Amino acid sequence: MVSSVKAKWLAVAMFLMNCSGVESVQAGKYTISAHGDASYGVYRTDLGLLGYSQGNCTHCHEQHASIDGIEQAPVNGGASPFNLFSKTFDTAAITKPYNQADVFCFYCHSTSGSLQQGGAMVNYDYAKTFGGASGGPTSIMDAFNQPGEIDGSYHNLYDIWDFARTEFDFFTDNSDPCSACHNPHLARRNKENKRDASYACISRPTEHSDQWGDDVDEQMSDYSAIYQAPFYFGSSSTYEPDAVSSSQDDGSLTPDYNTFCLDCHNQQVYSTTLSRNIVAIDWSASGGDLSGAGDKHGSNNATVDVVSRSPYGVLPGYVLSCLDCHEPHGSPNAYLIRRSINGESLGVTIDSGKDGSARGNQCRQCHKDDYEAGGSVNTGLINVWRTTHHGGGLAADNPYRTTQVPGCGCHEVVGNKKMPIACDNCHGHDKYVDATHPGTIDGRSIPAPYFTNGQGGYLRRTF
Ligand code: HEC
Ligand code: HEC
Ligand code: HEC
Ligand code: HEC
Ligand code: HEC
Ligand code: HEC
Ligand code: HEC
Repeated sequence: MVSSVKAKWLAVAMFLMNCSGVESVQAGKYTISAHGDASYGVYRTDLGLLGYSQGNCTHCHEQHASIDGIEQAPVNGGASPFNLFSKTFDTAAITKPYNQADVFCFYCHSTSGSLQQGGAMVNYDYAKTFGGASGGPTSIMDAFNQPGEIDGSYHNLYDIWDFARTEFDFFTDNSDPCSACHNPHLARRNKENKRDASYACISRPTEHSDQWGDDVDEQMSDYSAIYQAPFYFGSSSTYEPDAVSSSQDDGSLTPDYNTFCLDCHNQQVYSTTLSRNIVAIDWSASGGDLSGAGDKHGSNNATVDVVSRSPYGVLPGYVLSCLDCHEPHGSPNAYLIRRSINGESLGVTIDSGKDGSARGNQCRQCHKDDYEAGGSVNTGLINVWRTTHHGGGLAADNPYRTTQVPGCGCHEVVGNKKMPIACDNCHGHDKYVDATHPGTIDGRSIPAPYFTNGQGGYLRRTF
C-alpha cells in the first residue's frame, strides 16, 4: 500500500511539473487553506480508501481521469481541463436551476450526493453565517437554486464565466466560474473563523493568485473610516460579524467587499437572467445631488438630512458594504438582496417589479418609515413613506410638498386612497430624479422635486 501511495504522489508531482501554472500553487498557503487542511480538507471517500490522505490534491485533480485503471466517481469519461475529476463548467447551463454535473465545485458543495466524505457540504448564506439569521439554504448549490416570490435571484454563472474570460488574464475558456471569485488553492475557512478576516475565502478577480481580505489594508475599515457594521440578528447591542461588541463594529473584521465586487461592477455587465445590461456602480465619487455624483450609500454623502435607524445616524457620510444588503451567491429576493438586513428579517420576499412598495421592507431596516417616525405605535404605518417624501415635521429636506397639488396625478388612486408609487421607479444604484424623469408605472412624469439642492437645481440623487 505504502509504495502505491508513493507512486500516486509521484504522479501528482509529474502533473505539477507538466503544468505551467505550478508556481501559482504555493505549498505553504495550500496547507493552511480550507481544501488543503489535513483534518477537514478535501476527502473523496473512494480515494481515501485507496490511501490518499485528507487534503491531498488528488481529491480534485486526477492525472489520467482514472486511478488504478478505474475511473472514480463522477464517471464522465476522458480527461478534463486542469486534470480535474470532471469538467469545470457546462457552458450549456445558461440559466438556473443548476445540476451537480454543471459545475465542478457542486460535486462537493451540495446538500445531497456530495462526493466529500459524509455526502453533504454545509455552507449557509451570508445573512446566516455572518449576520446570525436563521433558515436559508444549506449548501452553495442550493444558494444558487433558491425559490422565491418570482424566482429567487442568483449570480448567473454563465454570465460570470463569459465576462471573466474576456476580462481577466488568468481566466481561460476552460475555467470554472466560481474561480472568478475564489482561488480553490487559497480559500480559507472563514465560516469557522468569522471574526478573523485573515481567514477570508475570496480572491479578487484582478488578483487571483492572492487571498483578498487577509492583509492589513484589505478590510472594510480600510475602504472607509466611516463604515458602521450593521446589528447582528435580533440584537440592538451587538454587530456583524458574529455578534461582536461595539468596540469591533468598524469593519476591521470584515474583508473589503466593496473593492472586491467593484472589480467587475465598476463597469456595465450583461445579465442573461435580466435580459439587459446592469448599471455600472460608482461607489467612490462624491458630489451630493449632481447627476454625475456617486451613490449615496457609497462615498457620496447624503444631503441635508437622513432619518435613519440605529446604529446609523451618529456620523455624517456613512459608506456601506455591498454585503450589508446583498448575498454573493443567491437569494430568495430579486437582485441578491439578503433575507435579513441590519438585524431583522425582511418579513417578505421582494421581487423586481416596479408595481409595488415591497422594496420598502428592505429600506425600513435602516430608514424610518411612518411607523418608526411616528413612535412605533400604529402598525398600519409600517412600510408607509409619506413622512420621508412629503414632510410632516421630521426633516427639512423632504423632496415633495406637504400638500402636493391634488391633481398632479402622481399617485394612482384606488377608491379614496392614494396608492404608493413603486420605489424602484426612483430609487436604485446610479439613479436620480429631476424635473424630467423618472416616471410612474404608467409612464407619467413626476413634477420636479420641491426642495432645491443648493446647487442651482432640483435634481436629487436617490440612491
Ligand atoms: C478543491 C479542489 C482543488 C484542490 C484540492 C486542488 N486544486 Fe488545483 N485546481 C482546481 C481548479 C478548479 C483549477 C482550475 C482553476 C480555474 O478554473 O481557473 C485548478 C488548477 C490548478 C492548476 C493550474 C494552474 C492554476 O493555478 O489555475 C495547478 C497547477 C493546480 N491546480 C495544482 C494543484 C495542486 C498542486 C494542488 C495540491 C497542492 C491542487 N491543485 C489542489 C481545484 C483544486
Ligand atoms: C461574484 C463572486 C462569487 C462567485 C461567482 C462565487 N462566490 Fe463563493 N463567495 C463569495 C463571497 C464574497 C463569499 C464570502 C461571503 C460568504 O461567506 O457568504 C463567498 C463564500 C463562499 C463559500 C463559503 C461560505 C460559508 O460557509 O461561509 C463557499 C464554500 C463558496 N463561496 C463557494 C462557491 C462556489 C462553489 C461557487 C461557484 C458555484 C462560488 N462560491 C461562486 C463570492 C463568490
Ligand atoms: C472534493 C470536494 C470539494 C471540491 C471539489 C470543492 N470543495 Fe470547497 N471545500 C471542501 C471542503 C472539505 C472544505 C472545507 C470544509 C468546510 O469548509 O466545511 C471546503 C471549503 C471551501 C471554502 C471555504 C469555506 C469557508 O469555510 O469559508 C471555499 C470558499 C470553497 N470550498 C470553494 C470551493 C470552490 C470555488 C470549488 C470549486 C473550484 C470547491 N470549493 C470545490 C470540499 C470541496
Ligand atoms: C467576476 C465578476 C463579478 C464579481 C466579482 C461580482 N459580480 Fe455581480 N455580476 C456579475 C455579472 C457578470 C452579472 C450579470 C449576471 C447576473 O445577472 O447574475 C452580475 C450580476 C449581479 C447582480 C444582479 C443579479 C440579478 O440577476 O438580479 C447583483 C445584485 C450583483 N451582481 C451583486 C454583486 C455583489 C454584491 C458582488 C460582490 C460580493 C458582486 N456582484 C461581484 C459579475 C460579477
Ligand atoms: C443597511 C442600511 C440601509 C439600507 C437597507 C438602506 N439604506 Fe439608504 N441610507 C443608509 C445610510 C446609513 C444612509 C446615509 C449615508 C450617508 O451618511 O452618506 C442612507 C442614505 C440614503 C439616501 C440619501 C438621502 C439624502 O438625504 O441624501 C437615500 C435616497 C436612501 N438612502 C434611500 C434608500 C432606499 C430607497 C432604500 C431601500 C431600497 C435604502 N436607502 C436602504 C442606510 C441604508
Ligand atoms: C417619484 C420618485 C420617488 C418614489 C416613487 C419614491 N421615492 Fe423615496 N425619495 C425620492 C426623493 C426625491 C428622495 C429625496 C432624496 C434626498 O434626500 O436627497 C427620496 C428619499 C427617500 C429615502 C431617504 C429618506 C431620508 O431620510 O433622507 C427613503 C428611505 C425613501 N425615499 C424610500 C422610498 C420607498 C420605500 C419608496 C417606495 C415605497 C419610495 N421612496 C418611492 C423620490 C421617490
Ligand atoms: C443599501 C443597500 C444596498 C447596498 C449597500 C448595495 N446595494 Fe446593490 N442593490 C440594492 C437594491 C435595492 C437593488 C435593486 C435596485 C437597483 O437595481 O438598483 C440593487 C441592485 C444591484 C445590482 C443590479 C443593478 C441593475 O442594474 O439591475 C448590482 C449589480 C448591485 N446592486 C451591486 C452592488 C454592489 C457591487 C454594491 C457595493 C459596491 C452594492 N450593490 C451595494 C441595494 C444595495
